[in-house]
Amino acid sequence: MSGKTILLVIGGGIAAFKSLDLIRRLRERGHRVVPVLTKAGSEFVTPLSVSALAGEKVFEDLFSLDDEAEMGHIELSRAADLVVVAPATADLMAKMAHGHANDLASTLLMATDKRVLVAPSMNVRMWEHAATQRNLKTLREDGILICGPDEGTMACGEFGYGRMAEPMEIVGAIEAALNDGPLKGKHILVTSGPTHEPIDPVRYIANRSSGAQGTAIARALLALGARVTFVTGPADVAPPTGADVVAVHTAAEMLAAVEAAGPVDAGVFAAAVADWRVASASDQKIKKDGKGLPVLEFAENPDILATVCASDTRPALVVGFAAETQDVIAHATAKRKRKGCDWIVANDVSPATGIMGGAENDVTLITADGAEDWPRMGKDAVAEKLALRLAEALGGASGI
Ligand code: CTP
Repeated sequence: MSGKTILLVIGGGIAAFKSLDLIRRLRERGHRVVPVLTKAGSEFVTPLSVSALAGEKVFEDLFSLDDEAEMGHIELSRAADLVVVAPATADLMAKMAHGHANDLASTLLMATDKRVLVAPSMNVRMWEHAATQRNLKTLREDGILICGPDEGTMACGEFGYGRMAEPMEIVGAIEAALNDGPLKGKHILVTSGPTHEPIDPVRYIANRSSGAQGTAIARALLALGARVTFVTGPADVAPPTGADVVAVHTAAEMLAAVEAAGPVDAGVFAAAVADWRVASASDQKIKKDGKGLPVLEFAENPDILATVCASDTRPALVVGFAAETQDVIAHATAKRKRKGCDWIVANDVSPATGIMGGAENDVTLITADGAEDWPRMGKDAVAEKLALRLAEALGGASGI
């Protein structure tokens, strides 16, 4: 992506320290970052560190004659390609939702004619508060893009939603919002997460997939400018900002959602789909009735990947996954042929590898040309590498 100008408003939260990393990463990718520090923000990070990292003057004061002489707040709000608020505190979100303009940050958020992306950060109770949720809804309705927050342990020691999204996730959301990557104009379908197959209304059969790899892939594709339809089973991680998200439970629902997504340029089938469902799931909770143990009979689920590969609307590029616990390459190579996909991302998911549910992945990419072993790396890095390969292939280069 060619370098863009991002106006970064840093609010007053402990996550402001992560905004320093965000500035660094945006600059590494060739973007210019013009920082605006709120009064509360300057309690957490100093103007000097922000300015040093951005290589720019830091704007802080609405009524500064110096700042206004250099670049007035109206101009400042419009000279950027995108306005980003990170961290966005509960207070800043409330101001935005209600149209307050009583300091530099809130004034230029009112004055801008550019898209605004907000990365909330606050204590879980503040995030869950009805007022914040109301403001969030208003911001969404106003067309403001929201990235995060993530779930995790916070600086205050509590656990839950409220932690600001990681800098690379924000970078992904920023680049998706700028929508100017090599995948601009391409529509890509990604399946992700496990499926849950009901036994009765309260019990189900599942698997250990967290959805982390599929989510990272969707995010990386969005960062390269693709339109992404993200069909996800019940995952542990939040779906990517900016994707068209379709949440499903069962394999049958996933197939229906995939078919409803319409023609796409590529499909990445990262979901860990249950191979079997309970043949006649009970409508009522199965009770211990003293007549012995229940016996479950299984029926085979549709193979979504194989169905798509055999369909009339087969995408130009189909990428499957092969989660194996032994003879990884041999099984995955056979699976590529059997299912009819172009590429298979194969990995060893034996418990000892820590891959299922973990942060890293160790994959081999299998194409018509053979097997390519990638070094073990973070799931985000695998996703970025795969997204770039997709961009290359869809751009007309050989390799499909
Ligand atoms: N897949 C699918 N629908 C299914 C089963 C699997 O779309 N019902 C897709 C997965 O998303 C993945 C690929 O097929 O991209 C391979 O999944 P995997 O579970 O490794 O293969 P299986 O078909 O289950 O084969 P096996 O049981 O022999 O390992």
